[in-house]
Amino acid sequence: MSQPTRHEIVAATFDSWAEAGRAAGMERGHSDVVVQVIERMEVRPGQRILDLGCGSGWSTRLLAQAAPGATAVGIDVSPAMIARAEAAHSNTIRARYDLGSFEKLEFRDLSFDRAFSMEALYYAVDLDRALTEVARVLKPGGRVDFVLDFYRESPRTAQWAELVGLPMHYLAIDEWCARLARAGFPGARAERVVDRRGPARGSPDPSGDPHLSEELHRAGSLWLCANKPA
Ligand SMILES: C[S@@+](CC[C@H](N)C(=O)[O-])C[C@H]1O[C@@H](n2cnc3c(N)ncnc32)[C@H](O)[C@@H]1O
Repeated sequence: MSQPTRHEIVAATFDSWAEAGRAAGMERGHSDVVVQVIERMEVRPGQRILDLGCGSGWSTRLLAQAAPGATAVGIDVSPAMIARAEAAHSNTIRARYDLGSFEKLEFRDLSFDRAFSMEALYYAVDLDRALTEVARVLKPGGRVDFVLDFYRESPRTAQWAELVGLPMHYLAIDEWCARLARAGFPGARAERVVDRRGPARGSPDPSGDPHLSEELHRAGSLWLCANKPA
C-alpha cells in the first residue's frame, strides 16, 4: 500500500477535527479577530475574495457580506470541513466552498481582487508554492490579508506543531514578510490584533492553563497585509 501524501495527512487531521466538532470552536475562538480585520480590510463593492483554508466557511460568508455585490470562494483540503461549510451555507450569501489545496489553486490567472486566510497558511505543505499560486490568481494591485496565531513573536505557541502532530511553518514576522516579498508581495505590513473579549473567550491555550492563555491573548494574532504590484 502506498504512503499517504502530505496533503492527505493534513486532510485526515482536519477531517477528524471537523468530525469532533472543533470547527465550531475555531469559529468561536477566531471570530472577534476576524471581525476586526474584515472591518478594516475595506472590501469594495463587487470584489471577488478567496478565503484560503476556509474550514467551516464562516469567514467566507463574512467576507461575502463585507460590501455590496462582493463574492467569496473558500477553499479547503478537508472534505469534512467543506461539507460543514456547505451545510451552514445560506443561499442569500454570495459564497461557495471548494475542495482544493493552497499549492494548486483551481482558478484562472488574475481572477480575484483579494485573498484572505485565518489560521491556515502555516500548514502549507509548500509555503512558497502556495504564496506564488495566490500571486498568480490575484489581479494586479490585488491584496492579501493573512491572519496567523502561530508565529515566533507569540512564544506560547511554540509547542503547537507538536500538539497538532503536523509539520507547521513557525516563522518570525520578518520571515513572513520576506516569504511574501519573494512570492510577489513586496512591502508587507504587519500588525498584532488582540481579541477584545479577553483571554477567556479568544485564543485559549490548548493546555487549558489560564496563565498561558493570558500570555497568548496579550501576544495577539498577526495580521499580514500586502499588495501585488499594480
Ligand atoms: C486551523 S483550521 C482554520 C479554519 C478556518 N480558517 C477557521 O478559522 O475556522 C486550518 C484549515 O486549513 C486547511 N488547510 C491546511 N493546509 C491546507 C492546504 N495545504 N490546502 C488547503 N487547505 C489547507 C485545513 O484543512 C483546515 O480546515
